[in-house]
Amino acid sequence: MTKRLFIKTYGCQMNVYDSARMADLMAPLGYAAAATAEGADLVILNTCHIREKAAEKVFSELGSIRRLKRQRQREGGRMLVAVAGCVAQAEGEEIQRRAPFVDILVGPQAYHRLPELVARADLAGEGRVLDTSFPAEPKFDYLPETGAAPGVTAFLTIQEGCDKFCTFCVVPYTRGAEYSRPAADIIAEASCLVAGGAREITLLGQNVNAYHGAAPPDGQSGSGEWRLGELVRALAGLPGLARIRYTTSHPRDVDDGLVAAHREVPQLMPFLHLPVQSGSDRVLGAMNRRHTADQYKATVERLRGARPDLALSSDFIVGFPGETEQDFQATLDLVSAIGYAQAFSFKYSPRPGTPAASAENQVPEPVKTERLTVLQASLQQQQRAFNANCIGRVLPILFEKPGRHQGQLVGRSPYSQAVHANAPADRIGEIVPVMIRAAQPNSLAGDIAGAAAGDGERAA
Ligand code: 5AD
Ligand code: SF4
Repeated sequence: MTKRLFIKTYGCQMNVYDSARMADLMAPLGYAAAATAEGADLVILNTCHIREKAAEKVFSELGSIRRLKRQRQREGGRMLVAVAGCVAQAEGEEIQRRAPFVDILVGPQAYHRLPELVARADLAGEGRVLDTSFPAEPKFDYLPETGAAPGVTAFLTIQEGCDKFCTFCVVPYTRGAEYSRPAADIIAEASCLVAGGAREITLLGQNVNAYHGAAPPDGQSGSGEWRLGELVRALAGLPGLARIRYTTSHPRDVDDGLVAAHREVPQLMPFLHLPVQSGSDRVLGAMNRRHTADQYKATVERLRGARPDLALSSDFIVGFPGETEQDFQATLDLVSAIGYAQAFSFKYSPRPGTPAASAENQVPEPVKTERLTVLQASLQQQQRAFNANCIGRVLPILFEKPGRHQGQLVGRSPYSQAVHANAPADRIGEIVPVMIRAAQPNSLAGDIAGAAAGDGERAA
């Protein structure tokens, strides 16, 4: 009999990828995706620990899950509840204390063991099973091939973990040491995604451009390893794969091979999320980012030298311990100097176990709020200007899915902007020239340009 599996995903795109793989793992055991937790046989919360708010959301969701689990019990059924991801890794004990009805805790490195954990939890009655270890064997070797058909755009994790230890960040503790998958495995998975209909692949990793995976047996490489630039070139050779992106990058790991790939590989999209966090060298030092504001600007210049239309995105943290008005001004100056197409910004959130959390010079909450407002106003203005600049241009849009309105499709520009246009549903999966007519803060609208209205390029 089919069992119902509900997965709720929090946080980054790596978690979106992990959730899809968990669904793949459970499918052979008869678990099919359910749209809600109500009446589910297995509920998985795939969690994020990056900021306090993200972790708190999980505990509040667990409150409603507990009610649904009780209801299921009253109806004579059983609902297993699993907490996966970084909160399980970092706060396993706290979950056991605050939510003792949780049956399974599984960290991001151990979820290939999910079928076994579910079987054990099934047998164990109300006993709890833990598995938040960092197993020695790479989980990727134990994951089944991607099961469900991918959409037009797909994610592919190529690297995990981080050795950088920025002083604000939990990732090195929750995701563990850096690990790069062998290039041959990645190419095989990408081929599978393309065969299933994917036209764009986003390569994922917490530190994706630190990638240094084993080169394929036939790959030309003196060191036996490939860096990201080489991997991108190999993937660009897959027939049918029209677009490649990668995220998230560290400014220190932008090497010449990657810059050259931006210059020479047309499939590599001209949009890059390159977090800088702060524009102040003093704060960057305290964050252990290992680069200065000028080095970041020089990296951006190198990239723009290779790909002049490169659009940039970043993450920023305001109110890092010890951040002064002057430091904050340096961040605003850097924003003006770079010109971002899009960005994310956050108030510093002390994370247990990270060095910055125990610093004495914490910035008061109202100051953080004030700085975030100022920074976001500046970033939003840049985003609006970037979008407005697209009006009147014809951009190649990869249509992904139906839009909200009848007869409308939504796709993405090379610069990762969402674009709405009237087009028939059979053009999903095609890259179509669209004349941009209007710009909103978060999306563009346009019309299929000229001759392409009838006979554009067809999906491979
Ligand atoms: N507080 C606020 N923001 C944080 N980030 C990571 N850790 C923290 C923290 N403790 C932000 C960084 C990172 C993004 C994923 O989340 O900007 O790039
Ligand atoms: Fe966290 Fe990124 Fe720094 Fe690694 S490089 S510690 S993931 S912010």
